Amino acid sequence: MGMQTRILKPSQRNLRRLGHVLRKGGLVAIPTETVYGLAANALDPQACAAIFRAKERPAHDPLIVHVIGLAQAEDLAEFNAGARRLARRFWPGALTLVLPRKSCVPGVVTAGGNTVALRSPAHPLARRLLRVAGIPLAAPSANRFGYISPTSARHVVEGLAGRIGYVLDGGDCPIGVESTVLDLTRPNRPRILRPGAVTARELSRFLRRPVAVVRQRSRGRMPLASPGMLERHYSPRTPLRLTARIAVRDPAVAVVRWCKPVGATAPNVFWLSRGGGLAEMARNLYRVLRLADAGGFREICVEAPAPGAGDLADAIRDRLQRAATRR
Ligand code: TXA
Ligand code: MG
Repeated sequence: MGMQTRILKPSQRNLRRLGHVLRKGGLVAIPTETVYGLAANALDPQACAAIFRAKERPAHDPLIVHVIGLAQAEDLAEFNAGARRLARRFWPGALTLVLPRKSCVPGVVTAGGNTVALRSPAHPLARRLLRVAGIPLAAPSANRFGYISPTSARHVVEGLAGRIGYVLDGGDCPIGVESTVLDLTRPNRPRILRPGAVTARELSRFLRRPVAVVRQRSRGRMPLASPGMLERHYSPRTPLRLTARIAVRDPAVAVVRWCKPVGATAPNVFWLSRGGGLAEMARNLYRVLRLADAGGFREICVEAPAPGAGDLADAIRDRLQRAATRR
């Protein structure tokens, strides 16, 4: 802590330098197509422990390991035929597969469990860095635990300045919400632990079987399917409320709408998209929530998304519901 945090542009020289930092056990925040990740050598337990310290992340919340492709993934986990088919179809991309781990994966990465979460990111800079580093990279979202995930280098610095050495600046993340986490530990019972850009509908069509979406609950003592998926997460500091119809006139309350309102707006009114496209909403979601959070409002009121359709709206709704859950 208290170290200088440098934002580096993606030159060949900087990528080589960051590859070296990672191989030596350092932390680097990197752009991915979903959100920025805080990366470390996944095979180095000390380096991975430093991720938990920088984020103030509880040790029971396992990390996603990023790989260049299926061959590297198979060094880390036991793949079954279905998992291989999924990786071939959806990687590189926003799909994380949870599989039985191999013994080379440190316990700190899996939070002591016997499964590991793997994903091959599509972002060209993440891929170049994976190549030059030559190691798998454990990387959770590059934010303080529980806060809104970062979708720009500036967001990373807002949360982690002084705690990490480097941020690789890749501009804004094109997807804007975290990957779909698919549990394949029981091959005949695939289940989504976290909805994301790869949708339940796409997955069940591809697998030709129903794909369950697990609703995580952190209340009570029952074990969570995914230990990190606490009900409250992705939260602004300002209390956030989801409402079916927004009729807020109070200028001390921020209003977040799905579409740009017609006519005049006010400084307390925000919107996630111009025309209502889901991809645009996902891309803007965290930036808008951060803006509203920084505005000094008493409350943030978000227009509730319509009931689910198995598409990207599921991911947006999931994040908003978690952001709205009270401590
Ligand atoms: O898009 C993403 O997935 C981003 C980028 C950086 O790749 N990463 C990300 O990581 O969102 P994180 O740590 O913020 O979220 C990973 C989620 C956590 O909720 C964690 O509990 C779950 O994946 N997870 C990780 N390993 C798991 C495992 N072995 N079994 C079940 N869930 C796991
Ligand atoms: Mg996270």
